[in-house]
Amino acid sequence: LPIAVLVSGGGSNLQSLIDRMESGTLDAEIKIVISNKPDAHGLTRARNHGIPALALDHTDYPSREAFDRAMVRAIQESGAQSVVLAGFMRILTSEFLNAFPGNVLNIHPALLPSFPGAHGQRDAAEYGVRIAGCTVHFVDEKMDHGPVIIQAAVPAVPGEETDALAARILKLEHRIYPQAVQWLAQDRLRMDGRHVQLRPAHS
Ligand code: GRF
Repeated sequence: LPIAVLVSGGGSNLQSLIDRMESGTLDAEIKIVISNKPDAHGLTRARNHGIPALALDHTDYPSREAFDRAMVRAIQESGAQSVVLAGFMRILTSEFLNAFPGNVLNIHPALLPSFPGAHGQRDAAEYGVRIAGCTVHFVDEKMDHGPVIIQAAVPAVPGEETDALAARILKLEHRIYPQAVQWLAQDRLRMDGRHVQLRPAHS
């Protein structure tokens, strides 16, 4: 499956995908990595593995739509068919989503629908939950909202630093995101309203 990965930061989730592809356990190929932050370490990670990496600074565009159109153009030119958001901190317009219907995935570091937004781990820690986790979902027009593909849970320890919880969550992100992308690559995901069915693998 030819994919594009969108990042804004460190790109450890991008790295987990690259590692699975290089070890032959993820049937996808990253055609392009795009960051809206020109200094994102994720771009360096891509270049280190010979993957085309492009900075498109959203502040250079007059509107969300104009920025999204530039991304769509770059993604389509790369040959990618699906889009994987990996720590990409911009909301996508329908202009973008309509270009890749049913083919945009996101990972969020909380058990949705709890704690959407930019600080899922911190919000969960401050709330005092005993179970935290992460969610891979299809992307729709609302932030951290589309149909859930897979979730994983970790214990949350009362009074611990947010960073410790976030690190425990991130480890699980690195397991469930490649799994979800592999299911997409195998064409095993079927969306029925909010419900995502996992079809059996063909042999
Ligand atoms: C992850 O926690 C992801 O869930 C999120 O932002 C973080 C990105 O980490 N929304 P990285 O850039 O993949 O290391």
